[in-house]
Amino acid sequence: MRETGADTSVHDSLRAVQWRGDGLRLLDQRRLPFEETWLDCRNAGEVARAIRDLVVRGAPAIGIAAAWGVVLAAQRGDDLDAAMATLRAARPTAVNLMAALDRMGSCVASGADAGVLAREAQAIQDEDLAANRAMGAMGAAWIAPGSGVLTHCNTGSLATSGFGTALGVIRAGYASGTIARVYAGETRPWLQGARLTMWELQRDGIPATLIADSAASHLMKSGQVQWVIVGADRIAANGDTANKIGTYQLAIAARHHGVKFMVVAPSTTVDLATVSGDAIDIELRDPDELLGCAGRRMVADGALAWNPVFDVTPHELVDVLVTERGVVTQPDTAALRALFGQSGTR
Ligand code: MRU
Repeated sequence: MRETGADTSVHDSLRAVQWRGDGLRLLDQRRLPFEETWLDCRNAGEVARAIRDLVVRGAPAIGIAAAWGVVLAAQRGDDLDAAMATLRAARPTAVNLMAALDRMGSCVASGADAGVLAREAQAIQDEDLAANRAMGAMGAAWIAPGSGVLTHCNTGSLATSGFGTALGVIRAGYASGTIARVYAGETRPWLQGARLTMWELQRDGIPATLIADSAASHLMKSGQVQWVIVGADRIAANGDTANKIGTYQLAIAARHHGVKFMVVAPSTTVDLATVSGDAIDIELRDPDELLGCAGRRMVADGALAWNPVFDVTPHELVDVLVTERGVVTQPDTAALRALFGQSGTR
């Protein structure tokens, strides 16, 4: 592990979740990269719909958006328990959503008004940005100069308060000159890698090369990547990691080819209440997302499709877990307990 000392604030220009005082402005990720349109949410129901429909996505970002949804409900005098239940049900897998709502719920229970709730939501958002910057520096320190990396899905400013988790490490590693090549898997079916990561990196001046998801093993065999670096939606107490569908097969291929596998996630993604990955609720989305592309049907009428949008990578396949509280190598129950204590973040 090396010290990087690089300026981690460079290559970081985007903020996709913006509080406006009386509404939540979200960069509509369904329309990127060709249209930069913003959606204004005025109540908790609109925020929940934006989360469900992937206007805003990425585990930390949906937690932050939900926290602001609670503030909107309080400003309007809506039923806060009902608002929080609606927000909690928006998506099942990313535990950051539940962690943010647990935290807002504690404030509500102690009688907080809309102003206090707004300060709490802002704290959740600010802490996420600080965590990402810390993880970027810590993760980049593990990467030898001249390395190539492969990432999956979108884990950047679009998926967080800013800077990103896995993309934060890539930003920091690129800024310090250690990361020489970045590859992004396209991330079928929703194309978070192709549409979002490629756009975000290009915008921030980090050259990246797109690959088909199915090219990943071939890329690893070619020797061009030394690390796979991914984010997470929920990390169970034993280190099993739920992330975007396709992550598990990347971890298997990485182990086979001697490529290291790094998971980068803030403590809000760690769920010590879930013993192992077997207990993680994996979101199933509409088969139509798989049967078509860019709104155009690609598969014969009547065909069936199965569309789980996350999978679980067993902890044995994770070489390094980077959190803002520290780095764990070969994560398991004992190592996570040592870092997070018995109670953890939830
Ligand atoms: O379905 P999505 O786009 O919300 O899935 C996002 C991911 O799987 C990310 O890798 C994960 O949330 C980490 S984002 C910092």
